[in-house]
Amino acid sequence: MRTQVGIVGAGPAGLLLSHLLAAAGIESVVVENRSRSYVEARQRAGLLEQSTVDLLRAYGLGDRLDRGGIEHGGVYLQFAGERHHLDFRELAGRTVTVYAQTEIVKDLVAARLAAGQQLEFEVSQTTVDGWWTDRPVLRYRDAGGTAREVVCDVIAGCDGFHGVCRPAVADRLTVSERGYPYAWLGILADVPPSTDELIYAHHPEGFALHSIRGPRVSRLYLQVAADDDIANWPDDRIWEQLQRRFALPGWTLEQGPVREKAITPMRSFVASPMRVGRLMLAGDAAHIVPPTGAKGLNLAVADVAVLAHALVAWLSTGDTGPAEAYSQTCLARVWRCTWFSWWMTSMLHTNPADEFGTQLQLAQLRQVVTSRAASAALAENYTGAPLPVPPLV
Ligand code: FAD
Ligand code: DHB
Repeated sequence: MRTQVGIVGAGPAGLLLSHLLAAAGIESVVVENRSRSYVEARQRAGLLEQSTVDLLRAYGLGDRLDRGGIEHGGVYLQFAGERHHLDFRELAGRTVTVYAQTEIVKDLVAARLAAGQQLEFEVSQTTVDGWWTDRPVLRYRDAGGTAREVVCDVIAGCDGFHGVCRPAVADRLTVSERGYPYAWLGILADVPPSTDELIYAHHPEGFALHSIRGPRVSRLYLQVAADDDIANWPDDRIWEQLQRRFALPGWTLEQGPVREKAITPMRSFVASPMRVGRLMLAGDAAHIVPPTGAKGLNLAVADVAVLAHALVAWLSTGDTGPAEAYSQTCLARVWRCTWFSWWMTSMLHTNPADEFGTQLQLAQLRQVVTSRAASAALAENYTGAPLPVPPLV
């Protein structure tokens, strides 16, 4: 088989890349080792930067997003028993939108299949080879177990943090990494949100986040120990901790049945460069941020917007300039978001044994809610910078 771009991974990065390339007449093959139902149900991100929303709309993916997405003009920061609102419209002239990653993946899968895209789920034994030549090769076994080989012009490694593409070029990469001594326990609960906008809460017993999935579904997160086990967290204990960490006189956190719960580790990780020969890495395959700044999905979208431009220039007109600049262009945004995610994480996650650290956090939070410069800096970073490339169509 022959294609222009072989794409490994049908997460947001891989699916969106194939969609953007198709809009500019570039063909691709997407292979994914999980099933369609698995990728469409995997609970992850929920918060989109304005530039992510604008891009999805520009490429015909705005229908369900406009019906189901909820635009938010700010967030609440809670600490020391006070809750403060940051108004992003006023501070940064931008907004964010709550729309679950599961819905974006569903929209993208439907759009790709409707367009006749070759999108293969449940593949196995994926390998990438020959990325140092003009004809890189993607090999895998399809869902029926038949060995397949796709000769490509370029391979895009969009296979997430645990994929095969980054390891294939590991000896060409420099890795910068930071671990954190805590993790997030996330739940999806069948209960109307108790808040109109997200609440980020600093509390001596640990950070908590109240997010939203719709009029009757809430998404909530708790800081837990890095090595904690979900078996230690019966639903009663989760609600008890959420009640303590969000407590505020005159305000009630409504409880409901917990539909899903899981613990996610936290790390910062950046691999560079993001291009080695004819293998281009994008999204979580190249970098990971802790979730506190809500940047991971948005960074994956930004990478792919830049990558689509670079591949269209290269494969349609032979102009390799944008592909040569790909890594540098993306890494500027990646490092800015890596800083922001680290900063939000460090400011909000608590350690009762560290009184000095706790006082620094409270001083920082106090500055964020009292200084316009500090709150505007948070608002600008949270709502995100414009993308460095215009839409292709
Ligand atoms: P992935 O979504 O990981 O997709 C990679 C795909 O490749 C997967 O489908 C995988 O099955 C497939 N794959 C792997 N190996 C192979 C192989 N060998 N062959 C074929 N296919 C393979 N980000 C935000 O922007 N905002 C948020 O609010 C936010 N909240 C988050 C909350 C949580 C709890 C978590 C865990 C993450 C959150 N993120 C958030 C991060 C965001 O979910 C990720 O950054 C995003 O999924 C990255 O997309 P991706 O396509 O690069 O990678
Ligand atoms: C969500 C996740 C985040 O990491 C975040 O910072 C905000 C919202 C969410 O899943 O809704």
